[in-house]
Amino acid sequence: MTGEPEILGESLPFDEIVHLESWRGERVDPDAYRRAHSTSVRDSLSMWESLAKELDWQRPWTSVLSDGDHPNVAKWFAGGALNLSQLALDRHVAGPRRNKLALIWEGEPVGKDGNPAEVRKYTYYDLWREVNRLAFLLRNNFGMKKGDRMAVYMPLVPEAIIFLLAAARLGVTFTVVFSGFSAEALASRISDLGAKLLVTVDGLNRRGKQVGLKEIADDALEQARTVNQVIVVRRTGAPDTPMKAGRDYWFDDLMRGVPSSARVAPEPLESEHPLYVLYTSGTTGKPKGLIHDNGGYAVLLHATMKWAFDINDGDVYWCPADIGWVTGHSYVVFGPLIEGATEVVYEGTLDFPKPDRWWRVIERYGVSVFYTTPTATRMQMRFGEDFVRKHDRSSLRLIHSVGEPINPSAWRWLFEVVGERRCPVGSTWWMTETGGIMVSHLPGLKLLPMKPGTNGLPIPGVDADVVDEGGQPVGPGEKGLLVIRNRWPGMPGPPTGMWGDPERYAKQYFERFSAKGYFYCGDYAVKDKDGYIWVAGRADEVLKVAGHRIGTFELESSIVSHKAASEAAVVAIPDPVKGEVPIAFVVLREGFAPSEELRKEVRLWVRNGFSPIAEPTQVYFVNRLPKTRSGKIMRRLVKAVAEGKPLGDVATLEDEASVDEVKQAYRGLKVT
Ligand code: WTA
Repeated sequence: MTGEPEILGESLPFDEIVHLESWRGERVDPDAYRRAHSTSVRDSLSMWESLAKELDWQRPWTSVLSDGDHPNVAKWFAGGALNLSQLALDRHVAGPRRNKLALIWEGEPVGKDGNPAEVRKYTYYDLWREVNRLAFLLRNNFGMKKGDRMAVYMPLVPEAIIFLLAAARLGVTFTVVFSGFSAEALASRISDLGAKLLVTVDGLNRRGKQVGLKEIADDALEQARTVNQVIVVRRTGAPDTPMKAGRDYWFDDLMRGVPSSARVAPEPLESEHPLYVLYTSGTTGKPKGLIHDNGGYAVLLHATMKWAFDINDGDVYWCPADIGWVTGHSYVVFGPLIEGATEVVYEGTLDFPKPDRWWRVIERYGVSVFYTTPTATRMQMRFGEDFVRKHDRSSLRLIHSVGEPINPSAWRWLFEVVGERRCPVGSTWWMTETGGIMVSHLPGLKLLPMKPGTNGLPIPGVDADVVDEGGQPVGPGEKGLLVIRNRWPGMPGPPTGMWGDPERYAKQYFERFSAKGYFYCGDYAVKDKDGYIWVAGRADEVLKVAGHRIGTFELESSIVSHKAASEAAVVAIPDPVKGEVPIAFVVLREGFAPSEELRKEVRLWVRNGFSPIAEPTQVYFVNRLPKTRSGKIMRRLVKAVAEGKPLGDVATLEDEASVDEVKQAYRGLKVT
């Protein structure tokens, strides 16, 4: 594999070790960890089993790891039964955490004095009672039961968390659809899952404005016919929210009729029962619905909350991820609550009404463990240090980031400015498919020698490595592909790994290294001489825009649904804040001519028709796109042109003039 390893143009400091002398006084030497890690991989089943024993099971398992009905879809803790809402609530309510704060939720709007207009606090007991009431309502009034499916399309409000926990309690498999996605995206996910209930809100708060969401949900339901009941949480109180009689119900009206003494026993769920399906974009075809089970997933979250976040009862934990992404599932809803943590949940953006909103939150609630992103960090670096420094951050003791590679200078800013050289700073690598963190600095295991920008070493029991095309480990400093060589709890679960599509699951993740049985992650990475892994970006055509995973296929489909566009190729180019941003090369239909207005229109079309996060920053019109002889668009060549890099192998290219055309369009627009 060619190219100097770098992140956003910054070279990787393989040899720069940063020690943290003050943090709890101790640290583990990476050599000792590597030896312990080898043992943990060899004996991973007994390690995962002893972690599983730290959780409450309704029925013990008979086998730690066994084969499922499809190749590569393993069953973890088969024979066992448990319930994640019981782990997250009942077991705390039965002990000393009963009256401990579980959630401190802050809404986005602020009052005239600049303070948050709404703060809601829930103890574990409060949350347990609300989840019981809602589970009671869903079961008794809506007939929801184990095996049914439900879709959730809402922002990060406490009700979203309560709905997820109530679904988990009943064994209703849910899917959350990011509230920034369009009606089409929502409809395709609902239909694929066969959800019969949709939960949404009247509207969202976005930077001081209110935006209707129910209308979009209604559009989706025109196309997605499986839903026959809709529960609407009142968020903005917009007076003209459309409600369809006999189908749509206001959440607060419904809940008024449920007594506070309503209880629903947590359903004993098989360990491998699907907890949720989360759709994530690939390069081709419709979005993939990855399935996560109950038992394996809970064990991985329990382990990583301890190892990576070192979570304990004195902490105030905060992860600002939205519930629409996997981080919101694993490290906002289930992970912290299973561990009995107190967590902050914030509805809005990081710079509303002022760039110091997040630092105010940290100061106000005394956040000690903070899980952020590289894009958020780079945005805040632009606002300047003063916004940070004027707020008290002495409560912070640990910082991690996730979602995309962190460039060394952003890491240094978190370490020096935000954490004042006091807090370990890590970049946890994982993906929707893995369910939880796989490669990370592990402060909870005192594994702290840090390097700016690295992901660190694989967690115990997980055999992640960087290999060449043949599956052989690459040498130190060489670029290769990240793989996971063994099975881990939390991996995509039964019955099919990917909802309704076991073949696609097997093809996507296991075909590339089928002889060895490795899980192919789709990322480029480098391993340095100390064994630290540095993930440098996607090896396929999936985009990571501000850490959000966007499939080229979905974005291109959105563009060609515009009346003027017949074909489109989308590639990512580096962006100093968002990591990367999409640009689009578009072939117009007969009768349409390139113009500045049309360019704007296409961008707006994606913004409104797919998602604001996917809007291409530039649209270039071309007469044809580089294709293989079999007609497949060669995005690799388009990307090479955009990055000014050598084209590489062009043997399969059908028409060389198409590349010149892309070059001209790209350069032409750059100078104007
Ligand atoms: C990227 C997000 C570098 C990677 C949890 C992966 C990262 C994809 C990191 C998964 C990190 C995530 N350093 N790259 N710390 N964390 N990625 O499914 O490309 O939204 O494959 O899950 O994000 O994105 P997903």
